[in-house]
Amino acid sequence: MTNPPIHERASVSERIDLAALPHDFLWGTATSAYQIEGAVDEDGRSPSIWDTFSHTPGKIDNDDHGDVACDHYHRWREDIALMKQLGTNAYRLSIAWPRVVPGGDGPVNPKGLAFYDALVDGLLEAGITPSVTLYHWDLPQVLQDRGGWPERDTAEHFAAYASDVAERLGDRVTHWATLNEPSCSAWIGHLEGKMAPGATDLTAAVRASYHLLLGHGLATRAIRAAAPNAKVGIVNNLSTVFAATDRPEDVAAARRHDGHVNRWWLDPVHGRGFPADMRDVYGVELPERPGDLETIAADLDWLGLNYYFPATVADDPDGPAPRARSVRRPGVPRTGMDWEVDPTGIETLLLRLTDDYGARRLYITENGSAFPDVVRPDGTVDDPERQEYLVRHLAACASAARKGAPLAGYFAWSLLDNFEWAYGYAKRFGLVHVDYRTQVRTIKGSGHRYAEIVRAHRGRARRAA
Ligand code: IFM
Repeated sequence: MTNPPIHERASVSERIDLAALPHDFLWGTATSAYQIEGAVDEDGRSPSIWDTFSHTPGKIDNDDHGDVACDHYHRWREDIALMKQLGTNAYRLSIAWPRVVPGGDGPVNPKGLAFYDALVDGLLEAGITPSVTLYHWDLPQVLQDRGGWPERDTAEHFAAYASDVAERLGDRVTHWATLNEPSCSAWIGHLEGKMAPGATDLTAAVRASYHLLLGHGLATRAIRAAAPNAKVGIVNNLSTVFAATDRPEDVAAARRHDGHVNRWWLDPVHGRGFPADMRDVYGVELPERPGDLETIAADLDWLGLNYYFPATVADDPDGPAPRARSVRRPGVPRTGMDWEVDPTGIETLLLRLTDDYGARRLYITENGSAFPDVVRPDGTVDDPERQEYLVRHLAACASAARKGAPLAGYFAWSLLDNFEWAYGYAKRFGLVHVDYRTQVRTIKGSGHRYAEIVRAHRGRARRAA
């Protein structure tokens, strides 16, 4: 991506329609437990499927793993101080199920809960609203050994664990998400085999998708029962989808891909059931029981959108479900993940969730970019491409809000460089650089730019009040 030098660019207030964002907008950063915590065998935590997967030779770039990661388990106070430096007023974290209920089901581990209890208190003391995600892919390995998400019991155990956490933190945490990106758990973890648990089995993947959504519905109910003030939502990673050509085969492939990554996850939670066309595409019987669809369609307080890139696809008649293969659009800039940069997608999706799904409240729960950052001899990290990505995506968010999307917050992915799953530590998404050898944190140019945007919005809100 070629950017003009920062000094030649218009100010953030000129580029982002900050007036379109509500005065109480949440300006946040996001992380997840396995990607930052480390301390994998401390204080009673049991292994998760990601411990197993990352310690399987050849699964992760450089055979990296999350044993230490950003050592956030020990350095969380320092990390809260960084959030304060950025001026953010919200933080999206995930809870590690294997820390809280090491047996997968059954007794709670007091030390595991105590960690999150202290973290929540620390955030609140710093004036930062915690937004808690209960499942960001780290299923206790013991439950995987009993079949994992393809089995119904896992959904029920998830709800019990959700209840334990909500009971303990629900007096202070109001903002709850059940699942993060269940499509990754189901499709990448059970169909493509590139994430834990590493299966390549369509039946297992479809069953996992069903039980993940059932778990979401059961957990929603459990959280509300344990914490009456809870505002519960679900976080999906969605993409805008384009057909590579006007050929009817490619248009049909785009429709299937949209079903696979978007509608399969949105329709059931909105009371529309699982899309019939996609049931045909998968050809796998769903493990349905009476009442499940109503459970899955539990009323939601908010929807979370994780947006990274659009998809352009062509028909792939002999490929795996959904028989659509990605096509590169020439001339479109890409990030270090080789993902296309297209901010129009975030606006389109916010408006789709508003207009087609009647969303009452929306958050961008993740958005960000990886680029190969370097620490300069003077100790600073300049990342003009990430800054440009951030400003352009925020401008698109504000444009969606101006057009009526009920956008209530934005969480930049990520606070810190961290363990990027199958890519290990090779890809850096942070607003804050982490030197994994020394654990020294350095706010990057994009972190300073984000702080500037937050300040500009806050100043405007204050003047308007
Ligand atoms: O790092 C991940 C995160 O865990 C889930 N959403 C996408 C991010 C970037 O790949």
